[in-house]
Amino acid sequence: MCGITGYIGPKAAIEIALETLKRLEYRGYDSAGVAFWDGQSLNVLKRAGKISNLIEMAGDIRADGLAVSHTRWATHGVPNDPNAHPQTDEEGQVAVVHNGIIENYLELRHELSARGHRFNSDTDTEVLAHLIEEQLETSDNPEEAVRLALQQVRGSYGIAVLFARFPDRIVIARNDSPLVIGLGEGETYLASDITAMLSYTRKVILLENGDLATIKRDEVRLYRLDGSSIERPPMHVDWSAEAAEKGGHEHFMIKEILEQPEAVRDTLRGRLKANGGIEFPDIKLEVEDWQRYRRILIVACGTAYHAGLIGKHIFEKWLRRPVEVYHSSEFRYGDPILHPQTLAIFISQSGETADTLAALRLCREAGYSTLGIVNAVGSSIARECDHVLYTQAGPEISVASTKAYSTQITALYMLGLFLSNVNGTLSMQQYTDATRGLMQAPSLISRSLEMEAQARQAAEALKEMPLAFYLGRGIDAYVAMEGALKIKEIAYVPTQECAAGEMKHGPLALVEPGVVAVFVATQARTREKILGNLKEIKARRGTVLLITSEGETDLPQEADYTLFAPKVEPEALSPLATIPLLQLFAYHVARLRGCEIDQPRNLAKSVTVE
Ligand code: G6P
Repeated sequence: MCGITGYIGPKAAIEIALETLKRLEYRGYDSAGVAFWDGQSLNVLKRAGKISNLIEMAGDIRADGLAVSHTRWATHGVPNDPNAHPQTDEEGQVAVVHNGIIENYLELRHELSARGHRFNSDTDTEVLAHLIEEQLETSDNPEEAVRLALQQVRGSYGIAVLFARFPDRIVIARNDSPLVIGLGEGETYLASDITAMLSYTRKVILLENGDLATIKRDEVRLYRLDGSSIERPPMHVDWSAEAAEKGGHEHFMIKEILEQPEAVRDTLRGRLKANGGIEFPDIKLEVEDWQRYRRILIVACGTAYHAGLIGKHIFEKWLRRPVEVYHSSEFRYGDPILHPQTLAIFISQSGETADTLAALRLCREAGYSTLGIVNAVGSSIARECDHVLYTQAGPEISVASTKAYSTQITALYMLGLFLSNVNGTLSMQQYTDATRGLMQAPSLISRSLEMEAQARQAAEALKEMPLAFYLGRGIDAYVAMEGALKIKEIAYVPTQECAAGEMKHGPLALVEPGVVAVFVATQARTREKILGNLKEIKARRGTVLLITSEGETDLPQEADYTLFAPKVEPEALSPLATIPLLQLFAYHVARLRGCEIDQPRNLAKSVTVE
């Protein structure tokens, strides 16, 4: 998500911190800040908007050998000046920049407030500054202060801390959010991505989860959260700067596909509890409020619309409430018959899609309760909805949406389970099974991603296909639609996505040798019917690529190529396991066809015109 850089050494520290930060702007760009030592005191400059605003603000200000900077992708609190990092305690003794999410920040904030701390921002990060400062009130050991503060924290973090009393060092720590130390001659660099520092040094130390480090001009000391010292050998990086920005991958799309386990984990974090409870700390609704919704309306475009279809399936299944899903652009023409107790859900990665925003405004005028499932914090849709459930996908650069989809359906699963629980529409056993399944989602996705080589082989064999059908039944049909959109967008393969049972009512006429049918088939209750559909394609000498669950033996016998997704219980969660395979297949077809993957022709990432 956000980006961190830092420098300690004889050169112009602010300049270097901001110059390296610019290279991370693609990771987050809603506000930026820098903390530095000016020879007398610890200072912070920060500003909403792009890094260029901050650079202008910093002007000719000089630092004395030490600066840490941050570019933010908001997760808690809208993008404004107070919420920008660095965050400090009241006295400005400690300045902290942070990537990640502190799960128990509300709890900590209440405790700190009760002990007299005053807060200036809505961020989760600010609690860290106060916790560290509190430790320093009785200690002269900044490393120990950070270590003890972090022991009170749950969540993910990559942090860098500057101290007014110890201007010779930066203390950093990592848990689930990367940090890299760059070694120079009499100078040391710091960044959340290697990319940022490649023009200065290629000798780096990668922090592991649970590591802390003290960085000085010519000294780096590493230790663990339990206080023990450790060594981590430096490594040499020979990536090009461009490859490094993409984490060493050829395209942002594949990087983002591979980021899905982490993105889904971040979306679950702080909401799905280890005991199976679900809560949405940012949504101020009481149980009775949630219970009053009789109908659900979902409005979205593109991939977000496909996520909405999954929402329809699971809300109807678990919650037993009628659900309508609209393309945003069609909403105003459809005259939907809305019930006063309708919860209107708007799904959007960017939060700026014009059609979705227009539909939201119509719903608001009509007085419906509105909930956004949005990735970009502080975006228009997020601001205008009554309530927001943020996905935590982080910035998605590739036009073809991947991790936004999996985090959107994760949010819908949580919402569906939460509503089913408050309305008592699922048995305890069903609820427990589903929450357990959801907890395993990140590892299921990781296992699907391990099938990349097989997806690439299928892509190699099928890359010349003139037409691809994407077929399934039930929830699988909705996943197939998203798979078809991916290959259409980036590989320019003409597709027809269709409920498998509809083939014989027309589309089957198009099947001939060379035509490919991609089947998604994971549901026990549709298995036999799918078997029949597979045979229909084979009888017309079409080629079949089957996406099914591990353990399935009959269906693959009718397929030319099979990709196995891990078996998911309950089956309603299977889209989380099957979509990565469809994304990987589309990606490799596009790659092999030599397409411009991250910026496909005629398309835009954020469509802000109706
Ligand atoms: C564009 C993008 C899609 C995206 C859709 C909706 O078409 O190319 O990837 O799904 O807009 O965007 P949103 O930001 O509202 O999710």
